[in-house]
Order: sequence, then C-alpha cells, then structure tokens
Amino acid sequence: MGQIPFENLAVWGGQPAFNHPLHVGRPNLGSRAQFAAYIDAIWERRWLTNNGPLVQELEAALADFLGVKHLILVNNGTIALEIAARAADVTGEVIMPSMTFPATPHAFQWQGIKPIFGDITPYPHNLDPDKVEALITPRTTAVVGVHLWGIPCNIEKLEAIARRHHLRLLFDAAHAFGCSYNGRAIGNFGDAEIFSFHATKFFNSLEGGAIATNDDQLAAKAAAMRNFGFTGTDHVGFVGINGKMDETAAAMGLVSLASLDHFIDVNRRNYHTYQQELADLPGIRLLPFDESQRNNFQYIVAEINESEAGLSRDEMMRVLQAENVLVRRYFYPGCHRGEPYASTPGHTPLPLPVTEKVVDQALGFPTGTAVSPADIQQICQIIRLLVNMTPQQRQRLSQIV
Ligand SMILES: Cc1ncc(COP(=O)(O)O)c(C=O)c1O
Repeated sequence: MGQIPFENLAVWGGQPAFNHPLHVGRPNLGSRAQFAAYIDAIWERRWLTNNGPLVQELEAALADFLGVKHLILVNNGTIALEIAARAADVTGEVIMPSMTFPATPHAFQWQGIKPIFGDITPYPHNLDPDKVEALITPRTTAVVGVHLWGIPCNIEKLEAIARRHHLRLLFDAAHAFGCSYNGRAIGNFGDAEIFSFHATKFFNSLEGGAIATNDDQLAAKAAAMRNFGFTGTDHVGFVGINGKMDETAAAMGLVSLASLDHFIDVNRRNYHTYQQELADLPGIRLLPFDESQRNNFQYIVAEINESEAGLSRDEMMRVLQAENVLVRRYFYPGCHRGEPYASTPGHTPLPLPVTEKVVDQALGFPTGTAVSPADIQQICQIIRLLVNMTPQQRQRLSQIV
C-alpha cells in the first residue's frame, strides 16, 4: 500500500482507494453451516415462533452470559424500549440525551410519553448527571441513560438522582452488549436495560433485542407484554404488543454468540490499529475505551476539531466517502433537531451546548470483521494526507467539498 498522492484523491475524479465500499456496521457473520443446521431443525419441528426452543435457549445463554436474573428476547431494540417503559409504568415526561439514535425518544413519544432532552458530557458522550435535576418536573417519571458507543453512563450518579426523586431508571444499552461497568456486566443496572441485536450491531440476530432486569415483577410484565399481554391461556393481564422474536432470529443469535469472542477480538485489534495510526495527528481525537473494563469496541468514533485538523468533519467525510470509506456522522444533527421534537414545544427546555459541538465533530469509522488492519492503515493514510495539506491544497479542497 503506497502513499496516495494528493492529486489522485477521488474527489478530483480519480479512482477511489477502495474498489468496494467499506461500511460502518457491515454485519458480522458467524458459521453459515451452523445457521443452516438450525434452519433444518426449525423446518423439522415446524415451530417457527411463539417462544420456540431456540428463543428459550438463547434467552438462557444470554442471561447466563450477563449474570442477570431475567432476559426477555424481543423482535428489536425499539420494541424492547417500548415494553420496558410500559412494564416500568413510565408516563408523563422522561429525561434522556438528544445524542442518540431516534429510536430512543421515539419509543417513548410513540406511547404519549414526552422526551425531555438533557445535555451530555464531553467524554463520554452520555447524559450529564449534573444537568438532569434541573429538568425534573412534577410530570417526570423516569430517566433514560444511553451507553453511547458502548461506553457506560455515570451509572452511580444517575442511580442517586433516580433514588432521590423516586424516578424509574432505564438504560438504552443498544450499543453496550458485552460491556461492563465497575466489573459488572451492562444489563444489570437501573430498573431495566435494553439491547439491540440489529444486523448492524457487532452481535446480531438479524433483527432482535432484549430487556434485561433483576426485577421479578418488571420481568413478568415485560414477558407478558411482548405476547399481547397474555398472562395465561385465555387470560390477558395487560395491554400488550407483538414483540416476539422468531426462531430464525434466535438461530442467528446463537450462531453469533458462538463467535462473540472472535468478533470482539477483531474489533479490539481494529481499534488499536486506528489508535496507532491516528495517534500523532492533530485535531483527530479517537474516543478511548477504558480497557480495565469489558468493551465490545464496536464503534470507532473520532472527534474532528477543524481549527487543529485544518479541515472540518464534513470535509473529511466527503473526501473519505469519495474513496469508498463510508464514514458516518453519528448522530447528526441530534434528535432535538428532528421531528416531532423540533416543532413541538418543551422537549429542549435548556440549551445543549456539548451535544451541539459533538454532533458537528463526531465521525464514525468502518470496523468489524469486514475491515482489515491494512484497510485501516489505508484509511488513516488518507486522513494523514488531509491533515498535512499545504495551504494551497487546503484552499483547493475547500472549493470542491
Ligand atoms: C442507541 C440506540 N437505541 C435503540 C436502537 C434501536 O434498536 P433496533 O434497531 O433494534 O430497533 C438503536 C438502533 O440501532 C440504537 O442505536
């Protein structure tokens, strides 16, 4: 792999550095033969859904892996959030970060519960506990922390706030499967935590999600709610929904689980390669993981500081995308700028200066088993070229991207 001359960048119309697109969130795939064997068994049994044996097997394996009392599989992370909110009797208003995927606020707004957006800390990019109490009103019933990029929230401080104000505490752990906080697996905190096992997550079940909780009552309600509220044959105890995971999804989950350590090893290796390659570049700050904890390393996110790097995050994104490196502006422009939150009053009672800064600087890079260290070295060569541009080159680039 050679150094790309500035003149050969694809933004000028040259050949892209990669002849196939490098995506963020390209699915990790486990053993195809094992998946095929599970499908054969499903065919034989004719048991396709409704709490089938593979769903039960995956539930038990995941609960054991996390050391949590109850793990309830559902058909995606959004439904997991909706069910967790109902099972925890959340109503009125909930405080959450805007710096998240829209599924977090939508899951509550969908049920007439109003998301109130709080600001995040500069690192990690999670709800700032010191700014939560100013948002509490008589209508507040819950706080929802999001462990963004798999990096846990300040759980202790959020727990103290929830206790002091008699609020429910839920965590959107869609990014944090396989991570730990103070040595304990994510999945064990708050009243409940939810996971997403969507295809783009490092551990996937095609589509899928789960509610993890150590609360017996909440677990029983959530399990009934995912199945239309049935609490027994011909007996409906709660309003419910169809949140059931089917057997093919559970089969994929079991296949992914068998390769979990491998996926994490690859992600860790990729993260260290990015870290090494970007270490000396001004204005590019790779978000670090606390390696004394368990991490899944599934999101590689850097903050691009324009005044130090010499180009903006969006300029870097356009150059890299032209090279077939499909970097993403996660979670631009912030949920509070999307609908219905931007047009209906009251969702953002206080300014969100840190969120505004992060959504303008954060860039997500490709990783996972579809990305090799050589790919990463090539990506970082392009970034190095950009950061080292002469004033004339910078001027030329700014005219076209
Ligand atoms: C932070 C966050 N929460 C919730 C979700 C929703 O999960 P799902 O796509 O499984 O519905 C996602 C999805 O990608 C997410 O990133």
